[in-house]
Amino acid sequence: MVKLLYPTSLTLDTAELEGFSVSLHAYDVKQPIPEDLIDAEVLITWCNTPDNLSDAAKRMKNLKWIQSLAAGPNDVLNAGFDAKAITVTTGSGLHDHTVAEHTLGLLLLAARKFHEMRDHQTKSPPEWPAHLGGPQPDRPKGSFTSLRGANVVIWGFGNIAKTLTPSLRLLGANVTGVATRKGVRDGVEVYAEDELPRLLPETDALVMILPGSEATKNALDAERLKLLPSHAWVVNVGRGTSVDEDALYDALVGGGIGGAALDVFVKEPLPTESKLWGCRNCFVSPHAAGGRPQGAERLVAENLRRFLAGQELKNVI
Ligand SMILES: NC(=O)c1ccc[n+]([C@@H]2O[C@H](COP(=O)([O-])OP(=O)(O)OC[C@H]3O[C@@H](n4cnc5c(N)ncnc54)[C@H](OP(=O)(O)O)[C@@H]3O)[C@@H](O)[C@H]2O)c1
Repeated sequence: MVKLLYPTSLTLDTAELEGFSVSLHAYDVKQPIPEDLIDAEVLITWCNTPDNLSDAAKRMKNLKWIQSLAAGPNDVLNAGFDAKAITVTTGSGLHDHTVAEHTLGLLLLAARKFHEMRDHQTKSPPEWPAHLGGPQPDRPKGSFTSLRGANVVIWGFGNIAKTLTPSLRLLGANVTGVATRKGVRDGVEVYAEDELPRLLPETDALVMILPGSEATKNALDAERLKLLPSHAWVVNVGRGTSVDEDALYDALVGGGIGGAALDVFVKEPLPTESKLWGCRNCFVSPHAAGGRPQGAERLVAENLRRFLAGQELKNVI
């Protein structure tokens, strides 16, 4: 019988996985896989330590399929598993709602400057941020103060972007996407990257939801940052490696852009010596957008059914 290992790093309702001709075994993602489970064919991963994964890559000779519950399973891909023998599937789709909600929050923070208000509140003595309250011009040109009428470009227009878009539109934003292929998706005009020189100068908020890969490394570099208007905000909830952090810092302190709200970083936790911590117009969110896979059992069950039937799996990387 096929052996499936599921992690104890989250609560999975294994009752939803019953009825298949597989045996289910819990394992600790922080310890080496126990000897009696080493012959498993299926491994579900969530927040495994690098040591656990690299050890599994060396010792699990029967492994055929790894189902990560992360949308971007860079940890699994970097662990040394035999890519020819093992299919890796992602948890794309399990984080759509949580990341979309967090991104919306970061965009509203950028427009409404909640972080600046809190900065004034925590001063000693506290200060009333008069410049942010009272009568204000409604959506003045050359500033990002509201989603209504704002041009929001989402770079990486996949599952999360599709979930986020209706909320942005409800609040009046003009949403445009950028992905590897152009075309209309869910009623949104999506362009390829060659259109960025035209799109970026018209952008009020650039939302990065790119996966971490060689192809996306430093996608937002100094040259592209220079194309953004000086009031534009950058929100990154994809992977930190898609933004050149030094170039971003220069743009933040040099007035090249209005600000940045970042949930992901090249190195996490963001090292204390990072210059981004000290940037008044940079908001640091501690990789908090996702982290709560929703509907994992349904995805695992669907893929398990396909796996046992010899069919192509969902979310193959
Ligand atoms: N902050 C968090 O807590 C958190 C949580 C979950 C996920 N994430 C990150 O968010 C990423 C996206 O998740 P998702 O579920 O939306 O993934 P997805 O559905 O696979 O969408 C990824 C999108 O990125 C585009 N893309 C990939 N490589 C590209 C490139 N080189 N140039 C331009 N576009 C490119 C794809 O374009 P095509 O559609 O044309 O292929 C697709 O539109 C994940 O990979 C993960 O790293 C972060």
